[in-house]
Amino acid sequence: MTKPKRIGILTAGGDCPGLNAAIRGVGKTAIVKYGMEVIGISSGFLGLLDKEYFPLEEHMLSGILTVGGTILGTSREKPFKKSKRYKIDKPGIIKETYNELGLDCLVCIGGNGTQKTADRLADAGLNIIGIPKTIDNDVYGTDQTFGFDSALLIATDAIDRLHSTANSHKRIMVIEIMGHHAGWLALYSGVAGGGDVILLPELDYNMDIVNDYLLNRAKNKKPYSIVVVAEGIGKPNKDQSAASYIAGEIERGTCIETRKTILGYIQRGGSPSPMDRILATRFGSYAVDLIANEEYGRMVIKKGEKIKDMPLSEVGSKLRLVPDDHKLIKKARGLDICFGG
Ligand code: F6P
Repeated sequence: MTKPKRIGILTAGGDCPGLNAAIRGVGKTAIVKYGMEVIGISSGFLGLLDKEYFPLEEHMLSGILTVGGTILGTSREKPFKKSKRYKIDKPGIIKETYNELGLDCLVCIGGNGTQKTADRLADAGLNIIGIPKTIDNDVYGTDQTFGFDSALLIATDAIDRLHSTANSHKRIMVIEIMGHHAGWLALYSGVAGGGDVILLPELDYNMDIVNDYLLNRAKNKKPYSIVVVAEGIGKPNKDQSAASYIAGEIERGTCIETRKTILGYIQRGGSPSPMDRILATRFGSYAVDLIANEEYGRMVIKKGEKIKDMPLSEVGSKLRLVPDDHKLIKKARGLDICFGG
């Protein structure tokens, strides 16, 4: 009788809706389908450094499918980055904890930074499986991460709500959408929410073009305009929010009353959408199948409608950015949506 496999699971980086669905997908598949033992690691990689973990039993997975955030907690601890808190060798502590726990594999659920750390731990000899998550949808190698669809619903609903107040006051409303490097969330919610201007980190923009476009709308008796900006767009002062900068430039350049909204962490809160629950569950289940087959050093990905996997070494911390000729940008330009250039 072979000893049942024992797997560790952690969630790292920014939280997002769907994490608990993924934890449930991993846990239930491991316990029910394969009779494995599961250890929940607290607060991302910090839990391996501080030796904070607990047996994740099946009953703990009940009711979490619909719950936002992560029952394990998370952190942005980067084990391969020197820090004041740990004078000694952090990767060495992680390897020590991994071996003390007798883990056969560690499942790392996170964004591009987490997958980079996961790959380096794999290089250090640990059996690792990565699962990509982030509302930014910018993990290289996968067509989609869970978290994105839920945030898209939230951001689109917020943009929808701006139309009535913009129309009542005949104002220009600027809304800032999360997306530090990639503009997927701003692009999709901007088009879905009827944005007139959409500014993305990937596309250079010219405020004279934006202001001329907005003035032209006003001249053509359009009563209001909606401007959707990704938080990571280029701007002269990195300490000023994208929304503040753009709203100020618009009001100065058009003399039209302008107001700003920063949606912020609301996009990361609440219950996951049905599609994110399904994607996260599929990712989690597939990850455990890889472990059962002892196929390590892989990241689970979505390609088209299929769930597949790829070498973690090919993911690294590469980003999946919006290409400037993306089909949705082309379609949007055809609807006279302005991208600032
Ligand atoms: O990575 C997801 C994300 O929400 C980004 O869109 C945002 O810039 C960042 O996390 C915020 O990081 P933190 O949660 O550490 O403030």
